[in-house]
Amino acid sequence: ASVPKFTQAMPLAPVATPYMSMPMMMDCYALTMQEANKEILPGVQTRVWTFNGSFPGPVIKARSNVRTLVDQTNNLPVGISVHLHGAHVPADSDGDPVVLIPANGGTKTYTYPNTQPHASLWFHDHAHHAESESAFRGLAGTYLITDDIEQGLNLPSGAYDVPIQLRDARFDDQGQLLYQLGDFQNRNVILANGRAWPFHAVAARKYRLRFCNTANMRTFTLALSDGSSFQQIGSDGGLLPAPITVSQVTLSPGERADVVIDFSRYAVGTTLELVNQGTGGPAEQIGKVLQFRVDRTAADTSVVPSTLRTLPVMAAATVNRSFVLGMGGGIATINGVAYVPDRIDTEVAYGSTEIWTITNSGTGTHNFHVHLVQFRVIERAGAQVTAGPDYGLKDTVRIGPGETVKIQATFTGYRGQYLYHCHIFDHAAMGMMATMRVS
Ligand code: C2O
Ligand code: CU
Repeated sequence: ASVPKFTQAMPLAPVATPYMSMPMMMDCYALTMQEANKEILPGVQTRVWTFNGSFPGPVIKARSNVRTLVDQTNNLPVGISVHLHGAHVPADSDGDPVVLIPANGGTKTYTYPNTQPHASLWFHDHAHHAESESAFRGLAGTYLITDDIEQGLNLPSGAYDVPIQLRDARFDDQGQLLYQLGDFQNRNVILANGRAWPFHAVAARKYRLRFCNTANMRTFTLALSDGSSFQQIGSDGGLLPAPITVSQVTLSPGERADVVIDFSRYAVGTTLELVNQGTGGPAEQIGKVLQFRVDRTAADTSVVPSTLRTLPVMAAATVNRSFVLGMGGGIATINGVAYVPDRIDTEVAYGSTEIWTITNSGTGTHNFHVHLVQFRVIERAGAQVTAGPDYGLKDTVRIGPGETVKIQATFTGYRGQYLYHCHIFDHAAMGMMATMRVS
């Protein structure tokens, strides 16, 4: 059945409330992973997997250097391991693929010290061979770290700062989610904050929209239907050094883009769409994302300053490594081998700064996500990166077919085992994942 577009309002993810707070020291949250019925398609109840019954998952608001503890209770029928994507956390709170919170009532407390600058992060399951399906079924929440630098800028805030999770989905004839590994071409219903093709009513003023691509496989290239430009102010690891004016942003799975759209240029009564110019499915379906309805005016004292932040200085790299992402014969590999839990693929000396050269040897898009660190993209396809959306702190980088990307990072703060992998979840589940040991 065809799903009507732009008939339902886009939900806003609820902000989680700590059950205990020690001001400027620690906030404690309790989340329960449980099934729930949600109206994703108009008039249909769909069974989804949630944190605290919310789809999309709740927003946890954290502050740099203020510790967050999250008590997770797993009432789902499978083991889960929660990963806070983009966070600098101890290895035992990083979501090890084979250290699971037992199904049907298991618990674990995760410690997130937040010893990193402001950033828009997200959390999802990372259980070996299960993460792709559990994220597809709904286990994805937002985690926003703020700091004095971000707070001092007077960017659009409060109701005008909106996290938006974007993904696709496939439904069966009863309107239930239908998951099959690698089933990219059939996931043609686009969800924004858990609703199929919703609308969002906005005032004629500036909004900060924080997009996170939580899709398993789909890369979005987002643009406005009138072709007009907007500002990108941030990416995975927080704000860019300066805003950039763009007419589109491309997000592979796991990546984030913080944008500011100034709706004051539209008359009240205007509707326009956020469209997806990415490929992979019928344009009538996957080309549409969300409709904005400018339905009122509002005061706006927010600004987008011409300087947003200073990026940390990079230490000189002393180690170079190469990684080749490959696919074939039903398995996906890094440097020719598929993931095996606890096999140490890369030994990293604690505190070292390294340059990793990553090549996509195939004909489809991959990306590369490294746990523990925010890295810098220093080169793409032979060209140095000195500006643009890659020029910020990143934890996930898109790598086109045949393309080579160089990243640089300093591995410090915590010792232990961490993953790096393609964040196309279905590829990671097929083996495009590996383990580094920082020691
Ligand atoms: Cu978003 Cu290793 O994951
Ligand atoms: Cu991949």
